[in-house]
Amino acid sequence: MLELTPEELLTTTRAVRKRLDFERPVPDDLIRECVSIAMQAPSGSNNMTMQFVVVRDAAKRKAIGDVYRRCYDIYKGLDGVYVGSIKKGSKAEQEQQDRVQSSADFLGEHMGEAPVHVIACTHGRVNDKPTNVVAALTGNVLPAMWSFMLAARLRGLGTAWTTVHLMQEQQVAEIVGIPFGDVQQLCLSPLAYTVGTDFKPAARPEPDTIIHWDRW
Ligand SMILES: Cc1cc2nc3c(=O)[nH]c(=O)nc-3n(C[C@H](O)[C@H](O)[C@H](O)COP(=O)(O)O)c2cc1C
Repeated sequence: MLELTPEELLTTTRAVRKRLDFERPVPDDLIRECVSIAMQAPSGSNNMTMQFVVVRDAAKRKAIGDVYRRCYDIYKGLDGVYVGSIKKGSKAEQEQQDRVQSSADFLGEHMGEAPVHVIACTHGRVNDKPTNVVAALTGNVLPAMWSFMLAARLRGLGTAWTTVHLMQEQQVAEIVGIPFGDVQQLCLSPLAYTVGTDFKPAARPEPDTIIHWDRW
């Protein structure tokens, strides 16, 4: 376990892509510990609908990586959505954006090489559901997956929240046997030991630029 204060853990759990160690296996028990911690997250009506598909099989990871690459290529063509098409105001912000682009582009090519893929899902699909139901189904999974990522970081493991494969979600469902009509995928993360464990807080907007005190 890394010796991190709670604030260090919360401010240095970055999207790790270029510093994933593709060669070092990840023990199943560490993944179980991370899922156990993730299950402490809140869930609507205390109804725990979250499910984790943990993919270790090399052929399946390669197939998921191929879907991810195809989706990433589509994403690269989406002006105003693709990380590389979003222009920032200051030199420092643009440099950070360029680093994220380079990192994300790398994962676009190498997702399949991560030793483990974790797909966070919920029972129940969001298709055409009322907003409160969508909020419950996604809210049952997203805090849990973030807890998983924090628990992973404490154990020297890196993760990266990704969603682009959801453009072709059904293809990934078929690779790992997820019942597509009943189960919604919400996040795909690589999981691997990190190369080094030192990660820094990122530059972010000041709180008062995003807080709306008392009214919008
Ligand atoms: C909803 C959501 C979707 C994301 N989708 C992707 C993705 O498909 N591929 C990717 O490489 N990163 C993806 N990211 C990661 C972001 O690029 C990353 O969180 C952001 O750049 C901040 O990076 P940092 O935490 O390392 O500072 C996603 C993050 C979120 C929250």
